[in-house]
Amino acid sequence: MAETAREMGSLPVTNVQALAENFNNNGVDDDLQVPQRYLTKEPSAEEVVAGGDSNCVIPVIDLNRLVDPRSSSSECAKLVSACRHWGFFQLINHGVPDQVIGNLKSDVVKFFNQPLEDKEECAQRPGSLEGYGQAFVVSEDQKLDWADMLYIQVQPSESRDLRFWPTRPSSFRNSIDAYSLEARELGHRLLEFMAKGVGADPASLRAVFQGQAQGMRLNYYPPCRQAADRVLGLSPHSDPGGLTLLLQINDYVHGLQVKKDGKWFAVEAVDGAFIVNVGDALEIMSNGKFTSVEHRAVIHPTKERTSVALFFFPSSDMIVGPLPEFMKGNQVRYRSTSYQDYMKQYFAEKLDGRKHLDRLRLLEL
Ligand code: OGA
Ligand code: NI
Repeated sequence: MAETAREMGSLPVTNVQALAENFNNNGVDDDLQVPQRYLTKEPSAEEVVAGGDSNCVIPVIDLNRLVDPRSSSSECAKLVSACRHWGFFQLINHGVPDQVIGNLKSDVVKFFNQPLEDKEECAQRPGSLEGYGQAFVVSEDQKLDWADMLYIQVQPSESRDLRFWPTRPSSFRNSIDAYSLEARELGHRLLEFMAKGVGADPASLRAVFQGQAQGMRLNYYPPCRQAADRVLGLSPHSDPGGLTLLLQINDYVHGLQVKKDGKWFAVEAVDGAFIVNVGDALEIMSNGKFTSVEHRAVIHPTKERTSVALFFFPSSDMIVGPLPEFMKGNQVRYRSTSYQDYMKQYFAEKLDGRKHLDRLRLLEL
């Protein structure tokens, strides 16, 4: 990802937070209309299975139970089942100190509350996806997402490009650093349990991701009073990398939806939990034992929402294919591909479901 994010770019677009402030500060029946480029054809809420029904809660995994020898194997089985059938789980008792998360959350809120010109000190530069702006905008007529993002590479530390790291609030860089170290450790532990859970060498997945790039994306989804059900915060997509750890900043504003059996499920984030999901590279490496699932973010009519996604990537010079540890007598289900080419293709097109991954599939599961 490191190299790829730095070589690719996205067409510049209007800042959505500023656009939304303009709309939301005006009366309901004024003439201001959300620009056509943000409006999707169908109300996005239509097919959603609302929360409340127990089927709609993605599995909750408890790290304490994974670690405790008395409960480890049953919790590991639950983890593997979640990664297979949902591609998503929520992680509780994850051990990341409240203070580390609290500091990050408060700095993220302060960052987005700054005037536009201050945020733009970290603006993307042409030909790079790092910085404050948008990704995946490849043509002047595609539909746009109702969100702004700040993307930075956070690990390994020597790969950081500090031009895109906010200096305000002044504690922000430290909070990101502390958080990314904790998250790295946590991600590696999860990869071990996932490998163990399917009978592979616990070190096998960890070894692929250890020392490799990690990217952090802060997503800011402004409210949209006029047309919340006709805009999307983040178009349906699967994540390209290994694992993603997602932290919701506003605990009570939900917006993430996950696709299962052709339906969208609204994720009700458990307070203090991480939302973890499998990315394309991990589906391929596990030969389909884990699934990279399509997801999207919807918009609230009156409340803003912010999330922090941390992506674990394999080495950019890796050939990504099913790992021998995960095959053990099974047929190969995916073609191998150079990860760099995969990422280039991923960022060269508009987000659109799992199409990149589907191109590499050899056999249906
Ligand atoms: C992402 C993502 C979901 C969210 O950043 O890849 O899926 O709820 N984010 O912000
Ligand atoms: Ni995602």
